[in-house]
Amino acid sequence: MTVTIVGSQLGDEGKGALVDRWGGDADVVVRYQGGDNAGHTVVEDGTEYKLSLVPSGAVRDKIGVLGNGCVVNPRTLFDELDDLREQGLDPDVRIARRAHVIMPYHRVLDGVEEETKADDESGQEVGTTGRGIGPTYEDKAGRRGVRIADLLDPDALRERLSYVVPQKRALAEEVYGLDVSTGEHASAFDVDHLVAEYGQHGARMAEEDMTVNCSDFLHERRQAGDDLLYEGAQGTMIDVDHGNFPFVTSSNPTAGGAAVGSGVGPTVVGQGEVVGIVKAYLSRVGSGPLPTELDGTDREEELADYIREKGGEFGTVTGRPRRIGWLDVPMLRHAARVSGFTGIAVNHVDVLAGLDELKVCHAYELDGERIETVPATTEEWARCEPVFREFEPWSEDADWDAAVAEGGDALPDETQAYLTYLAEELDTEVYAVGVGPDRAETVELANPFDRL
Ligand code: IMP
Repeated sequence: MTVTIVGSQLGDEGKGALVDRWGGDADVVVRYQGGDNAGHTVVEDGTEYKLSLVPSGAVRDKIGVLGNGCVVNPRTLFDELDDLREQGLDPDVRIARRAHVIMPYHRVLDGVEEETKADDESGQEVGTTGRGIGPTYEDKAGRRGVRIADLLDPDALRERLSYVVPQKRALAEEVYGLDVSTGEHASAFDVDHLVAEYGQHGARMAEEDMTVNCSDFLHERRQAGDDLLYEGAQGTMIDVDHGNFPFVTSSNPTAGGAAVGSGVGPTVVGQGEVVGIVKAYLSRVGSGPLPTELDGTDREEELADYIREKGGEFGTVTGRPRRIGWLDVPMLRHAARVSGFTGIAVNHVDVLAGLDELKVCHAYELDGERIETVPATTEEWARCEPVFREFEPWSEDADWDAAVAEGGDALPDETQAYLTYLAEELDTEVYAVGVGPDRAETVELANPFDRL
């Protein structure tokens, strides 16, 4: 059976802790989209593991799979694996042969396109992580990408690169005016250099028996009775189809992506559980609207600073301070519908303790009309005025340890009222409540694997 974990908002909802927790009940943890733009922090017995590519289940001795829907930077992959090994872990990671490879020229082009957009007054800059994600997915859709399987076949690798690199060089030089013949970018556009380096990455993958035909591999594991946990990266509002286009990532973090991005049928994913991870407030890295953003007045900025510091809201991958806003329920209704949530987990409720006001955006006013979900365009979303509901804040003295030990009834009454409201609005159940960064600091109300 499968459990799929999906970010309900803009990424950084604290998915890692739950994937790690429930991953303990799975046999295989699968990433189905994204690459090293993701930032998962898993805290185990006070030790922090920062992962951007390796599935977080690998910290718990599970098989971690990077599905065909992922884009893989082999340099990052091996750096992370080597670091984890140095920390005493022995991660078992398999990579789909159909997954696409992030090449050095993708990163250069990601950077230079963002710079160009930043210089343009129309405000098109996405604020990407600079990891080459967009350009790699472009090449996949454009049928000129390099796949993991190509790294295992030096002739195929040379053939693909001989076609694509001159195009990339022309793009860099003629469109973006970059000198790539000499200097820091030269090796990123040099076919011989790339064939040599990426052929070696392929050789290491073959030596460590890491590559799989993902669909067959997962089929065999399921036949053998294994349970799968799908680990979505990023979140619904940065999904390339369902998010806030163009301020999105280039893949599908929503639950449909799990089927396409791993070669397991939608009926399999749909018979399982789909859990939306919600942060009790909003944070956003990068550009784009945020209707509930706390940035209008000095008092709002103070509140945002307080939440940012207390919640450690700085990008895991880039270190950038995250923008902060109140919880946005229209966004969650949209997420619940797109992915078909069977349950939610609400994280970071401890960060909101001790506030003297607590608001939730219940609906939007758009051009004089009240709406309950997110409109299709960024321009409309930017015009949405939040219609807030006030909630009773919970105290700084809340006894979270008691709630972890005794269950949901031991949560403060105010927190319970907030969670009941959310469950009713999303027509789903709350499975877990995060009350601190450590995996143990979770009040578990239901384990999705027990629901199957
Ligand atoms: P890209 O995925 O690097 O192309 O960036 C596209 C957008 O998605 C930018 O706004 C990024 O800040 C955002 N983004 C990408 N990965 C994450 C993530 O793991 N958490 C939150 N935002 C992300």
